[in-house]
Amino acid sequence: MKGFDRFFALNRQRTVKARVFLCEWVNMTRNDSINSASLPLISVLATGGTIAGQSTRQGSSANYRSGVVSGDDLLAAVPGLSAAVRLRAHQVANIGSEDMTSDVWLDLVRTASQELDDPEVSGVIVLHGTDTMEETAVFLDCLLPHGKPVVMTGAMRPADAVSADGPANILAAVQTAVCPAASGRGVLVVFNNDIHAARRVRKTDSMALNAFSSWGGPEGRVVDGDPVFFRPATAREGLPVFTVAGLDALPRVEIIYGHAGQERGLVDAALAAGAWGLVHAGVGMGNVHGDVRPALAEAVAGGVAVVCATRVVDGPVPLTEKIRRDGFIAAGFLSPAKARVLLQVALTRGDWQKGGMQALFDRYSLA
Ligand code: SIN
Repeated sequence: MKGFDRFFALNRQRTVKARVFLCEWVNMTRNDSINSASLPLISVLATGGTIAGQSTRQGSSANYRSGVVSGDDLLAAVPGLSAAVRLRAHQVANIGSEDMTSDVWLDLVRTASQELDDPEVSGVIVLHGTDTMEETAVFLDCLLPHGKPVVMTGAMRPADAVSADGPANILAAVQTAVCPAASGRGVLVVFNNDIHAARRVRKTDSMALNAFSSWGGPEGRVVDGDPVFFRPATAREGLPVFTVAGLDALPRVEIIYGHAGQERGLVDAALAAGAWGLVHAGVGMGNVHGDVRPALAEAVAGGVAVVCATRVVDGPVPLTEKIRRDGFIAAGFLSPAKARVLLQVALTRGDWQKGGMQALFDRYSLA
């Protein structure tokens, strides 16, 4: 059994065996005699975003400058946190995540790896803008070991807004990062008390506090401080171990957006700009306009990897005969933005035409 059949069979098994995995957040603030050296150490990597933003118009949560407040100040704004865990903050960047770059990603993954290697560190939290959080989540998910919890969070309202959501999201992220059941699940996004897996999470609302959702539902939820997981941690067997050690840039991969009346010009422009890979955000089941398909097929013939994803919010792009015939790769359940990240990481391993790329997308998107 392979591909989607295997996925649905696996999911049926999971439903039957479904158990709830619960962690209890020990409220250290109730126990004043606790020796702080015995508290878990959580490393916090701050990168900016609205969570670190400051309003530029009083009372507005849409007019602000992101990436202003430091990671240390964000942590200090969460009541009781320092009584429950030891926190070590690193300011990796302080930007709006719309300005995320490969350079920041490479810094971030190296800092996170160093922190995870420290035997004292129980888990890592990444504070990040919400706009590209799901892309950074996939990037880190591909590159970091899956032993200790790595949890990302952010906020929809700037730090100085009325009812800023940052402090509650940080608290839930810390509660998840110290929970043993959070390990072995890859990178998690904790937001509005929901716990999402990097592979499945997507920002689905541009302004709501509950901005993220996952196809197939979240991994779990933080219930009054205690993370509850709805399914067992899935082993990541079969996925290659990627590394960006020694790299100072990532391969260029562009996304081409499918639409009625589309022409081939943007594909040609992306290739002329030096793209190593293209993700086509097609219509429906990843369908490509007849005037654009030849340009993509020529790209493949010229050694450029082409992934067919869909601009539709839910549902997969399966490996159809048309996709296979032109040498394209089917994105499965990965959104165009995530398919782009996986392709960038995969292309660092060298010649993608040696095979295995479709298997990688199947494995990553369906695992
Ligand atoms: C950003 O992604 O940096 C801005 C939006 C946000 O954090 O919610």
